[in-house]
Amino acid sequence: MPVWYIGFFIRESRMSMNVPKIVSMKSKEKIAMVTAYDYTSARIADEAGVDIILVGDSLGMVMQGLDSTIPVTLDEMIYHTKMVKRGVKNALVVADMPFMSYQADYVEAVKNAGRIMKETGCNAVKLEGGREFAVTISNIVAAGIPVMGHLGLTPQSINIFGAYSARGKSEQESKKMKEDAKYIQEAGVFSIVLEAVPVNLAKEITESLRVPTIGIGAGAETDGQVLVFHDLLGLFDDFKPKFVKRYAHLKKDAIGAMENYIKEVKDKKFPDKEHCYE
Ligand code: KIV
Repeated sequence: MPVWYIGFFIRESRMSMNVPKIVSMKSKEKIAMVTAYDYTSARIADEAGVDIILVGDSLGMVMQGLDSTIPVTLDEMIYHTKMVKRGVKNALVVADMPFMSYQADYVEAVKNAGRIMKETGCNAVKLEGGREFAVTISNIVAAGIPVMGHLGLTPQSINIFGAYSARGKSEQESKKMKEDAKYIQEAGVFSIVLEAVPVNLAKEITESLRVPTIGIGAGAETDGQVLVFHDLLGLFDDFKPKFVKRYAHLKKDAIGAMENYIKEVKDKKFPDKEHCYE
């Protein structure tokens, strides 16, 4: 094998993630996705090696202290995605389209998706919903903007659902979700988030699609998993959905560190010589 070819191969394998690579991971390698909302959290996730960083509108809850994602604006999504993008070298960056940035009509949706991509440099957008958004999805994709779908518990519809509970438990809902997955796949999504969906339904949908599914509270049979950064690291404890696994307890550690700092200030132990200019 010529040396230039080996060099090219090594460079290729180190090149950043893109949409076709994510699609090709289906059934071969599980996709690891996590949310991030700023430069520092994006650097942590990217250096750890996640495949996809989602700038989720969940930032309304974990960053802004809101009780739903409904008030999050397009300008806020753009602001956070810009910060995230600066911290990422390898992962695919996907930005959520916030509530009412794509629901009214598809022309406005294309313009708003375009603004997100053009102003932030993200690689794709995500939007919630099934067949009713198929035309919107196909028009955004036709404009050159990859779209990730989102089915199951779609938090922007909280006022229709009434509660953040699992979806697709009834025969009727499960049938609709299976059909919706097919509709949005045909419309052109490159992957679909399945949120709070029974394990068997998520498995059935995953097996029926060409594009990968990424689950959150949808069991182990999806093609990938996503968790919210602050949940994964134990930074956010206002509430804990059943599907959240905490891989660290950073809020507890942070409070401990703050308490030490406060004590050292009060006891006049900080700053010591090491932290002063001569
Ligand atoms: O907004 C978000 O963080 C999400 C994930 C939970 C999938 O949509």
